[in-house]
Amino acid sequence: MGNSAGGTTRNLGKGSPGCGEPKTDGVDTGPRVQDPGEDPYVVSRQVTVLIVGAGSRGKCYSFYAQYFPTYMKVVGVADPRDFARKHLQEAFHIDSDNVFEDWKTAAERERFADAVIIATPDSLHKAPAVAFAHRGYHILLEKPMAVTVEDCKEIVQACKTNNIILAVCHVLRYHPVSLKIKELLDSGIIGDICHIQHQEPIGFWHFAHSFVRGNWRNEAESSFSLLAKSCHDIDVINFWMGGKRCVKISSFGSLSHFTKEHKPAGAAARCLDCSVEGTCPYSAKKIYLEQAENGYFGWPVSVVCSNGQKDIESLTEALRHGPYGRCVYECDNDVVSNQVVNLEYEGGVTAAFTMVAFTKKLGVRRTTISGTKGELFCEGSGPVEVYDFLQRKTTAFTPKKAAFVPMGLGAHGGADFYLIQSFISAVAENKPSLIKSGAEETLNSHLLVFEAERSRKESKVVILQDME
Ligand SMILES: NC(=O)c1ccc[n+]([C@@H]2O[C@H](COP(=O)([O-])OP(=O)(O)OC[C@H]3O[C@@H](n4cnc5c(N)ncnc54)[C@H](O)[C@@H]3O)[C@@H](O)[C@H]2O)c1
Repeated sequence: MGNSAGGTTRNLGKGSPGCGEPKTDGVDTGPRVQDPGEDPYVVSRQVTVLIVGAGSRGKCYSFYAQYFPTYMKVVGVADPRDFARKHLQEAFHIDSDNVFEDWKTAAERERFADAVIIATPDSLHKAPAVAFAHRGYHILLEKPMAVTVEDCKEIVQACKTNNIILAVCHVLRYHPVSLKIKELLDSGIIGDICHIQHQEPIGFWHFAHSFVRGNWRNEAESSFSLLAKSCHDIDVINFWMGGKRCVKISSFGSLSHFTKEHKPAGAAARCLDCSVEGTCPYSAKKIYLEQAENGYFGWPVSVVCSNGQKDIESLTEALRHGPYGRCVYECDNDVVSNQVVNLEYEGGVTAAFTMVAFTKKLGVRRTTISGTKGELFCEGSGPVEVYDFLQRKTTAFTPKKAAFVPMGLGAHGGADFYLIQSFISAVAENKPSLIKSGAEETLNSHLLVFEAERSRKESKVVILQDME
């Protein structure tokens, strides 16, 4: 079966910003037809998919069906928001019997698709994942897997019991840079790993958007920062460490700056009414309105209007009354803005991870790995540089990227594309080995994240016995 684009689906428009995070660099764009010779994921049948949660991420993965309609077909959608549901229904001509306002109604039906993509809010992952696993759907589940250890374990158990394929959207496992680093480490080029240093810069306005005003601002409503933002960073450190077991973990972190005490004198409760807004780097006018006035309605502007409208009037109205127009010093946020995690693996190998809000760069991760024979360094989309201690010279390695990454799947350096491609191929060919973020490895790294957070909250080093 070929993989040229075409078919009857309607163009969904430019999509990368709608993917929840902005498009990053290093993404190739090009013609809509991919050279089958370069595609290791050629599949022999079409996989039918139900999308549960048609927001930024659910819509993002649906682009794969638009570009590769012979590989994936969207046959159902569940979302309480009318515009989000209808958008996918119209784009993919979904039969109205398969359009639901809630995931529960869809899960009550006998299975009518091969797979389900679950892209609901963080606290709403466990219940649908378990229910759809029991219905026999293969599952692509957004990260974090779930918001408690018990719920993560229940998901893994349900997937095992029903023998279904689970892939968690730990996109970094599919990122060409992470894979190149892993390949180099496994080749022994830097000798034995002694230390990994990894940083995630969240970006100052991104933090204000998502973690002060937005969906991930409040732990009780969503989850804690390390889980919501950086579970895939802890996961990728674990991935690079190979089979080594983490034995100790400690963490510090706090919410800096975005608290009531830091509210400037004279500031109003909303940016549109604020007389000192001009001196505030987190002003909603700057982050949203000025962008829209310049014609940009992509992410993050695209998520401000809860009805999906993209015009200045709707945006202004949303900033006047909705969550994204609030003063950053007057929100109900409580998640931390900066956190460090130290990990000790067996054999005394260490890792240090930093997540920080107050950065110019956004999502451009920086990694240094020290080995006994050399040092590896990479920032963003590469190249990956290796300094050889014996030769005293640096060699740059370029991560292998696909010749073409479809628009809308370019976020995370194209990893969104590699992830959905792997998942669809794994389901079509019944090859779970194509999944790099399956149940066990994801559970292992999620457990580290929960333990790191316990360390932070209880101010103690956690000694990891048997985590099972
Ligand atoms: N892998 C990544 O790098 C990455 C990036 C961003 C977000 N995420 C995760 O993806 C998930 C979705 O995030 P998003 O940015 O798309 O959020 P979003 O708010 O845009 O989308 C969530 C959707 O779920 C829908 N929903 C709510 N209740 C529902 C129900 N009962 N039944 C069906 N649908 C329901 C909402 O209406 C909304 O459309 C979150 O868990 C988030 O943390 C992952």
